[in-house]
Amino acid sequence: MATGGSEVFKEAFMRNKLALVLAAVLMLTGCGSAAAATSAAAKEETTSAAVEEEPTSSAAKEETPGETTNAGTDSKTDKLVLYFSRTGEQYTVGVIEHGNTAIVAEMIAEKTGADLFEILPADDHYPMTYQELTDVAKREQKDKARPAYKGQLPDLSKYSTVFIGAPVWWDDWPMIMYTVFENNDFSGKTLIPFSTHEGSGLSGFDKKLQAACSGAEVGKGLAIRGNDAQNAREKVRGSVNGWLTELGF
Ligand SMILES: Cc1cc2nc3c(=O)[nH]c(=O)nc-3n(C[C@H](O)[C@H](O)[C@H](O)COP(=O)(O)O)c2cc1C
Repeated sequence: MATGGSEVFKEAFMRNKLALVLAAVLMLTGCGSAAAATSAAAKEETTSAAVEEEPTSSAAKEETPGETTNAGTDSKTDKLVLYFSRTGEQYTVGVIEHGNTAIVAEMIAEKTGADLFEILPADDHYPMTYQELTDVAKREQKDKARPAYKGQLPDLSKYSTVFIGAPVWWDDWPMIMYTVFENNDFSGKTLIPFSTHEGSGLSGFDKKLQAACSGAEVGKGLAIRGNDAQNAREKVRGSVNGWLTELGF
């Protein structure tokens, strides 16, 4: 299941972990180079750790509490973008206020006129620091957890195409997405997956989605680097638009 990209991600992840442990040891022993080790680790892991604002969870933003944000109930579109995305501290981008996957989801909705719905956890138990988040996600994956999401999805009967996106978490969909796949009826629809990642690409999102939603047809997916979504938006918009054109949208 692991790809070359995910190996790179994991190696970098372990390197950062080691550097942080080393820094902690040096600090405990009062060694003067502790600060340098900490900053080296922080530099590799985050590029804007200096942001002082309290990270805001997307769940905390009252304007989009798990509701369709594009068109509401009278929308005429038969396309929907469903996505899960996190703010706070993320890999290689530091503390972000707009999730990487959210940025791509919005580009898809903008180009296709689709409705947009953000999957939010029912109780926001996901930490806002990267290290802690990876631990929680790993445990959920190991336990095959099915974390509850907030509210109800929009009425799926009016949509024939659903774009579904999430960050790659440990070479897989975040477990909360399986809750979405298993608790809703996507049969007869075209499902088009997209991911943001830092090396693992699509991580088999398409095959895993097909396995979870056997009555649906799964189309060609798109994988975007999270760092590009954050920092190279016009390049990403070009990739998103090219992919949509290829798919006939
Ligand atoms: C818990 C966790 C696990 C991750 N696992 C992977 C991985 O296996 N492969 C990878 O390429 N990136 C991995 N990443 C990086 C994210 O996929 C990437 O930063 C993504 O763009 C975050 O998107 P978001 O801001 O929409 O949440 C992981 C990040 C987190 C927080």
